[in-house]
Amino acid sequence: MLQDFFKYQAQTSPHPLAMEISHAKGSYIYDTSGNKYLDFVAGVSACSLGHQNERVNNAIKDQLDKYSHVMVYGEYAQHPATEYCKLLAQHLPHPLKKTYLVNSGTEATEGALKLARRVTGRSQFISCHNAYHGNTMGSLSVMGFEERKQVFRPLIPDVDFITFNNEEDIQKITTKTAGIILESIQGGAGFIQPQNDFLKKVRARCTEVGAMLIIDEIQPGFGRTGKLFGFENYDCIPDILVIGKGMGGGMPVGAFVASEEHMDLLYDNPKLGHITTFGGHPVIAAACLATLQEVTETNLMAETLEKEKLFRKLLVHPLITEVRGKGLMLAAMTKSPNITNEVILRCHKRGLILFWLLFEGTAIRITPPLTISNQEIEEGCQLLLEVMDEVQALNL
Ligand SMILES: Cc1ncc(COP(=O)(O)O)c(C=O)c1O
Repeated sequence: MLQDFFKYQAQTSPHPLAMEISHAKGSYIYDTSGNKYLDFVAGVSACSLGHQNERVNNAIKDQLDKYSHVMVYGEYAQHPATEYCKLLAQHLPHPLKKTYLVNSGTEATEGALKLARRVTGRSQFISCHNAYHGNTMGSLSVMGFEERKQVFRPLIPDVDFITFNNEEDIQKITTKTAGIILESIQGGAGFIQPQNDFLKKVRARCTEVGAMLIIDEIQPGFGRTGKLFGFENYDCIPDILVIGKGMGGGMPVGAFVASEEHMDLLYDNPKLGHITTFGGHPVIAAACLATLQEVTETNLMAETLEKEKLFRKLLVHPLITEVRGKGLMLAAMTKSPNITNEVILRCHKRGLILFWLLFEGTAIRITPPLTISNQEIEEGCQLLLEVMDEVQALNL
């Protein structure tokens, strides 16, 4: 399989981990050689309920037996998508009420950017250095990492960048700004949380100048930080919410949410302001519904904060300079990318899946399924610390 994987499937980097997958269950992934790996990454924060969650799997199977794709997004009333949007609205603060379902996180970002322009009639966007909001042209335009975007220029014009947590920069949001897009916790940048009411202050400035505050919850959302959405930790409500990843219990999905008044601008004058064939797909929406029910009807969110405490208690080692993040969106920081690489690769060989962050080479990603058990956390951390002892002896 590996030969064909490299030959026929387009690659994203010269050095993929290239594990050959057999199956996955709970907190474990199994390769075709029969090896078992404890998953501390959860498909990069997507499989929040672990692998093959029973409720999600049953919802998918039940829906498949009724109907799958029948029409493009928005034409027919379909139970899974309608129920999902309704339940989501019940869990969101005013005025976030109407959800547009799309197929991925980056498409949700695109929709949010379009909506901000449509609502304000303005063109400028503001984003943050080291921000990540997806990889299509609009999302790439608001990505704050020049090295990986310059070869794709020209991108959309009129985008300015500020520094996350820099209060003075907030003044750069003006009456020319259509929207500012922010992650509630910066992911690719190194799991950086807002400090000193940064989000709240950005919110106030947006209200003052009439700019849309777009919050990207694609990674922190759906319980990962102990609340359903990260912004709830920072006392701030966006005008447009962007979601994805953990939303689908492992299925591909995204959405943007706004007030009824704002969202309704997308369907007229011109009509079809945003369209998609597969958005709201019944099978995917059924998975989303089961996921949201599971996250909100169980103790998972509260347990996430207890599990964070356990990780923080266990992750003490001379190679770890700091543990960043919130809930089960954690990053163990080391002194150098070399140390981080060595630890991740050695852990992988020993059966523990860890991963990198997009723009911060010293971070070791720890974003396990929210369903991970305390015992699994203890076992994984024990292995990680053993590997760190080995790596420390290398004096990298
Ligand atoms: C914060 C954030 N925004 C947007 C995206 C893009 O989502 P997708 O890969 O589903 O397009 C990601 C994915 O990593 C993300 O973490």
